[in-house]
Amino acid sequence: MSLPRQVKIVEVGPRDGLQNEKEIVPTAIKIELIDRLSDAGLPSVEATSFVSPKWVPQMADNSAVLQGIRRRPGTVYPVLTPNLQGFDAAMQAGASEVAIFAAASESFSRKNINCSIAESLKRFEPVVSAASALEIPVRGYVSCVVGCPYEGAIEPGQAAGVAHALFAMGCYEVSLGDTIGVGMPDSISRMIEACARRIPLARLAGHYHDTYGMAIANIYASLQQGMATFDASVAGLGGCPYARGASGNVATEDVAYLLGGLGIETGIDLAKLAAIGDWISGAVNRPNGAKAGRALCAKAHE
Ligand code: HMG
Ligand code: MG
Repeated sequence: MSLPRQVKIVEVGPRDGLQNEKEIVPTAIKIELIDRLSDAGLPSVEATSFVSPKWVPQMADNSAVLQGIRRRPGTVYPVLTPNLQGFDAAMQAGASEVAIFAAASESFSRKNINCSIAESLKRFEPVVSAASALEIPVRGYVSCVVGCPYEGAIEPGQAAGVAHALFAMGCYEVSLGDTIGVGMPDSISRMIEACARRIPLARLAGHYHDTYGMAIANIYASLQQGMATFDASVAGLGGCPYARGASGNVATEDVAYLLGGLGIETGIDLAKLAAIGDWISGAVNRPNGAKAGRALCAKAHE
């Protein structure tokens, strides 16, 4: 199959990236990050999550973040909502897109959202109905699509079953999460194949963490299968609070560099993006995890 001509990158750094930071990042930094990312041309910037602040203290300023950003016309700012309580709070704060998140592994589901997979799907139904009544689009996530920190390898059919349940419930897109970054091009391809038998490929997204440095290879394999939406995190920020050792998502700069080199359109200003990665890494006191980002910044400083 030929590669897609255009790809959508969903920037998840302000949520998936920052949620794992131990030190609370000032709300003003989060707002500046989101505003700069939308200004760099990212079409979707996941802004925060409306989860329990006891579970994820870093996201406790969710309403202030959402209300503080400058909404760029044409950019969407999804927020995570695990239940109706989160959904109602997100609506009060003015969210215009939400995301629900399930797992392909029972143990991970319990650790992450404190319930079984079946219970989580039941809990999402009223969220999707409420969203539908308000014409709010809902994105779905499946974690641990190829591997789980507690259960090891996950069968492609298991990931596809949960992805299909979210799609059938009304999610316009389902993001397939390799939460701990253990996927390889072959296991990722088998997983996508299983999902694409039940859900149109155009409704699937790849969400690959880069723990072992395989995310770019996995994205290339996914592109070859026709996948055209990928989640990424500026500077490779992040990890997962319930998946020890998992590093951040693939860096947005590296994905944008790959796609640019392949002649695939993203609408992203790579120079601006690289500067954002450099700035936010300094702001959270971490090395910049984007290889292309570091190289571009070094060149710009020459
Ligand atoms: P629970 O404790 O089972 O819920 O948490 P509960 O309904 O029994 O409520 C207990 C307390 O939480 C109550 O407060 C509720 O009010 C409160 P208390 O009476 O004790 O003071 N509560 C809430 N507060 C604020 N917002 C809410 C909310 N809901 C209940 N929405 C819950 C269940 C799901 C809420 C909890 O387990 C939770 O918040 N988990 C955090 C999950 C999370 O944020 N994980 C990280 C994001 S997912 C991810 O990173 C993976 C992804 O990137 C894809 C990938 O890489 O795989 C998406
Ligand atoms: Mg993630």
